[in-house]
Amino acid sequence: MSEVVKLERHDEVGIVTVDSPPVNALSAAVRGGILECIKAAIADPAIKGIVLTCAGRTFIAGADITEFGKPPKAPALNDVLSEIENSPKPVVAAIHGTALGGGLEVALACHFRVAVKEARLGLPEVKLGLLPGAGGTQRLPRAVGPELAVKMIVGGDPIGAAEALKNGLIEEIIEGPASGGEAFVRKLLAEKRPLRRLRDDDSKIAAAKADRSIFTNAVAAMTKKSRGLEAPFAAADAVGYAIDLPFDEGLKKEREGFLKLVASDQSKAQRYAFFAEREAAKIAGVPDGTKSRPVNRVAILGAGTMGGGIAMSFANAGVPVTLIETGEEQLKRGMGIMQKNWEATAARGGIPADAPAKRMALINGVVGIENVGDADLVIEAVFETMAVKKEVFGKLDQYVKPGAVLASNTSYLNIDEIAKSTKRPQDVLGMHFFSPANVMKLCEIVRADKTAPDALVTAVNIARKIAKVPAVVGVCDGFVGNRMLAQRGKQSEKLLFEGALPQQVDAVVTKFGMPMGPFAMGDLAGLDIGWRSRKDRGIKSEIADALCEAGRFGQKTGKGYYKYEAGSRSALPDPEVEKLIDETLARLGRKKRVVSDDEILERMMYPMINEGAKILEEGIAARPSDIDVVWLYGYGWPIYRGGPMFWADSVGLKHIADRLAFYAKETNDPSLEPAPLLKKLAAEGKTFASLAAASKAA
Ligand code: 3HC
Ligand code: NAI
Repeated sequence: MSEVVKLERHDEVGIVTVDSPPVNALSAAVRGGILECIKAAIADPAIKGIVLTCAGRTFIAGADITEFGKPPKAPALNDVLSEIENSPKPVVAAIHGTALGGGLEVALACHFRVAVKEARLGLPEVKLGLLPGAGGTQRLPRAVGPELAVKMIVGGDPIGAAEALKNGLIEEIIEGPASGGEAFVRKLLAEKRPLRRLRDDDSKIAAAKADRSIFTNAVAAMTKKSRGLEAPFAAADAVGYAIDLPFDEGLKKEREGFLKLVASDQSKAQRYAFFAEREAAKIAGVPDGTKSRPVNRVAILGAGTMGGGIAMSFANAGVPVTLIETGEEQLKRGMGIMQKNWEATAARGGIPADAPAKRMALINGVVGIENVGDADLVIEAVFETMAVKKEVFGKLDQYVKPGAVLASNTSYLNIDEIAKSTKRPQDVLGMHFFSPANVMKLCEIVRADKTAPDALVTAVNIARKIAKVPAVVGVCDGFVGNRMLAQRGKQSEKLLFEGALPQQVDAVVTKFGMPMGPFAMGDLAGLDIGWRSRKDRGIKSEIADALCEAGRFGQKTGKGYYKYEAGSRSALPDPEVEKLIDETLARLGRKKRVVSDDEILERMMYPMINEGAKILEEGIAARPSDIDVVWLYGYGWPIYRGGPMFWADSVGLKHIADRLAFYAKETNDPSLEPAPLLKKLAAEGKTFASLAAASKAA
């Protein structure tokens, strides 16, 4: 008998229960267990109907991703599903938690599906660079029609039980999975309902067979944002087979598509990213079993750009917030922006119509820092100057209850220094959100020298609770993300002095898959901030300075490195900028040369990787994968390239080290000399990934 799947009989109902923590993934043992139990239930004459359900927190959450790329083990999932579908006795999937990927495919092979009301059902394979490989692309369109199927399969987002019921994916909403499933089977038996095998039911795809535009329009809408990705297009093709081919042929074509994607570099990168994200939540050097402090209310200081976005993230997750400002005016402004933001989302159908009011009700806007008393976590998002931060943290000491975690959202300032202004440095850490904070998923959790382990765990857990991706980093200028970005910024500016144009540099970076190049990003953020700070520090950057002196501050003034037409955010190359660059170079006696796109790519990416190596050497990040998580979720690094450190491994560290050494010499820039760690790995023929494997083994 299987260890992970059990068969019990309650009178005439056979109950097959999968129990394989944490998420009942379809490992070889689970597949074998299901097959064995279904066969046994079919063979038992006392059993008239079968429930397939799961123990623990969820229904089957998919194939076991750790098995991909290894030699396949019997039984194949499709064989298990045929056994279920061909059963002469009704098989009902009783779903709780999440029925995802292969899990939903198991349910689709059952004759009926029922679910608890909190359940979510989806085929998220595209997010791993895959397509559903066990009939999902063939059965889901037959269950819900091609439009919703395309939305779920090409988009990858799950739907809730209510939507599943409305669209015929499930038959009923039940109370408990096992008991509800059992009751449903009894009802089926009493009613003598005929079995419904989706493979034999073309009724929902008939319209699309007659008019293929129903399908192609849905695909066009769903692939709009899939630039550079292979899986969404292959997944859409697979749904097309359901419409165009008989079931068995469609299934075969789906399988071919799946096998091709499993072996692809993109899917490998995306699977890596899945595990990197989860690994990042495990904090290196914190004793096992360290418990989170409870967080029932959060106070946020500052209702500006960041404070407002952070408050929205907490309210979105149902966590009450005290939002604190220095004056009524600033508070009103901040509250107004949040309300408008939510209302715009509701108008687009992104959240229910009553959500803005409900979420605003979770935010208590007040004036005065003395209102922090009932908060378990305080996040400071006031102006970025050390003096102000120190004053604020000093005051917090007076009003905050003992044990509350005190976080700063600073982008660059030293958290050790900030912590010194309190009597409780053990409670102080950084929670560095990214703008717009209600959208961007990354939260760098900055561990200062005195931060207590349980304070860190609290910050990581609450970040996950509000749907952010936390990555723990150490104290240094710019932490992980901005510190690496600064290296790219430096090279992008230098490239202008050598003969490249902003639009050429940006085009290379966006072609690589980043959402924006450095110059368009500068225009978005505003060029005047850097200009003022350079003036304060007596530093020059001739081209950037010349732009600002000409009043070109970026998007907000309609011109910067690009020009912008009124009301538009699209960056248009501007001959005036080219002229201004030429004049500056002439003034400085610099000669232009032709800079190739290959050189631009190397000089944008390799210096960042070099900085990443230094970050690892210094222990600012514990694992290369943590650096990748920062870039994937904070800067829009293309998921199909896994992250800068993963990508570097695929390019080859020796090549990168050699090219950096070359550019260091060629452009007379010692900052490009390869870091000792990079040099060492390159010389040994090793990868960054080998460091992670070594630290795991230790
Ligand atoms: N395979 C192997 N391990 C998995 C897994 C899977 N499909 N899904 C989750 N896990 C592991 C995680 O790595 C994590 O391990 P750890 O504790 O050692 O870090 C553990 O299960 C718990 O996962 P989470 O931390 O993500 O738990 P949550 O409760 O936050 O989320 C979840 C649960 C929503 C199920 C989420 O884990 C998830 O989205 N999983 C992936 C679902 C998925 O992509 N399924 C499709 C797989 S591909 C497929 O099915 C192909 C098929 O068509 C043939
Ligand atoms: P902002 O200027 O938009 O907002 C700051 C707000 O803090 C203002 O509304 C101000 O009235 C308020 N404030 C000042 N002193 C206060 C006090 N003592 N108590 C309560 N409120 C006070 O600034 P922004 O952009 O939101 O930045 C805040 C912090 O977040 C800074 O440390 C910044 O470096 C950091 N940050 C900013 C990012 C960005 O893209 N804007 C990204 C990540 C971090």
